[in-house]
Amino acid sequence: MSNPTFTLAEGQPIANPSVSTTLPTLGGGGITTLGDTLLIETLSHFNQLFMPKLLVRGENSRSPMISLLSRRPISLMAWAKKTPVLFRLSTTGGEKGSADTVRDVRGFSVKFFTEDGNHDIVGNHVPVFFVRDPIRFPSLNRSHKRHPATNRPDWTMFWDFHVNQPESVHALMHLFGSRGIPDSIRRVTGFGVHTFKMVAAGGRFRYCKFHFRPTQSITHFSEQQATRMAGANADFHTQDLWDAISHRQFPAWKLYVQVMEPDQAETYGRALFDITKVWPHKDFPLIEVGQMTLNKNPDNYFAEIEQAAFSPSNMVPGIAMTPDPMLQARMFAYPDAQRYRLGVNYTQLPPNRAICPVYAPFERDGMGTVTRNYGGDPNYVRSTLSPGVPSQVVSDVRHTERIEHNAILAQNEIVVDDEDYIQPRELWNRVFDEIEKRQWVANVSETLGDVPAELKEAVIGMFSKVDPRIGQMIGAKSKSSSRL
Ligand code: HEM
Repeated sequence: MSNPTFTLAEGQPIANPSVSTTLPTLGGGGITTLGDTLLIETLSHFNQLFMPKLLVRGENSRSPMISLLSRRPISLMAWAKKTPVLFRLSTTGGEKGSADTVRDVRGFSVKFFTEDGNHDIVGNHVPVFFVRDPIRFPSLNRSHKRHPATNRPDWTMFWDFHVNQPESVHALMHLFGSRGIPDSIRRVTGFGVHTFKMVAAGGRFRYCKFHFRPTQSITHFSEQQATRMAGANADFHTQDLWDAISHRQFPAWKLYVQVMEPDQAETYGRALFDITKVWPHKDFPLIEVGQMTLNKNPDNYFAEIEQAAFSPSNMVPGIAMTPDPMLQARMFAYPDAQRYRLGVNYTQLPPNRAICPVYAPFERDGMGTVTRNYGGDPNYVRSTLSPGVPSQVVSDVRHTERIEHNAILAQNEIVVDDEDYIQPRELWNRVFDEIEKRQWVANVSETLGDVPAELKEAVIGMFSKVDPRIGQMIGAKSKSSSRL
């Protein structure tokens, strides 16, 4: 059989299934549109296929929850407020019931129940992500999960994905480093990862990134300790967090923001919105804005945790999205997945219900309605009979994004270049000490045993661009091990 041409699900041929359609903006961002059928259909199909059976993370969630003591994240003026939160930490690769102590990126989700509605930070425990084009997310996810034929995780599939999408090299440096296996949920970092905006009345804004840092020092398991623990107590992290909270040893995190002024953003280049990159602390120091304390376990895991729905689209006035295509795609994908996983009225379920009054009469009816469903109020906009009034909080806030000069709405790929290797190189040279370097090489080499020779060479080639010594070290390990 000749090689099949890639098409959409209804047969229309496509040239490139790996790039979404965007209108490019300042800072390497892009505006995605609902007209990108390839993106919308790929994400939506993935959401339904993987949920609820093989939920990306929600079903795989690992943590008890919380109520908390935090200052309001939003209006950075309104300090000294306590805001209840719901927290969930999850692994990505395994399914519900799989071992906690695996090498994986942890999801770090916090829902703030504010007076202006819910605000969610749906982040990760490492600061950068593997891809910067949302069309690649379902592929990334599949490449880390089970092979379609063998039904087992598969390193060949994993590395085949990453060498052909080497923008992931920075996240891979973190994944295979000591951070890849936390020894306790209580001591993991949390990153909002994306760039957001803090917007003041009148439209003045600053760009920002969110960071949670545990008040205890950050510690890890070695590969050997983690493997042993995965057999001895697969629910080790879950138990550790539950026990600590029930013994009133409440884990706590400080919440920080990094802030970039719009005029700095003008010249910052594409790392402004690219989530494979960080903003260096030396240029954008961490500013402390609050503390989160986890002080309550759930009374019922399914009701309070399993049914929780976090989404980057949940933002309160004062925090806004940016033209990071990953963020925009997530703002569509999470509620889409949750309508399927939990039903169209999932916002009415106890863990998701806002603590402030809700009046959204244009979203009503549907399976599982548990409210009075707005009685006889008009169900169409612009009715003079409606009791609803406009919000005074948001009506005067307007802000713009800078579309690139001569921008074209198209598949505008940001191709991997030398810049993508700079931050991974700094991590290797300045952050990793010699012990961590050797451990990192051992961790990667361990995965290459059954990978075909050509692919192994490509992996070595990719990491050699970070630093030639990495390639040499993996090569040397390879010679000294019969499996490599
Ligand atoms: C285009 C890129 C992405 C897509 C389409 C995507 C999609 C999804 C979906 C559909 C879920 C399940 C939602 C649910 O059923 O409740 C999920 C879970 C999650 N994702 Fe993503 N994701 C993307 C990138 C990211 C990134 C960059 C991060 C971290 C910064 C992240 C962190 C999480 C976390 C923490 C969860 C679990 C949320 C929870 O606790 O319920 N994802 N993702």
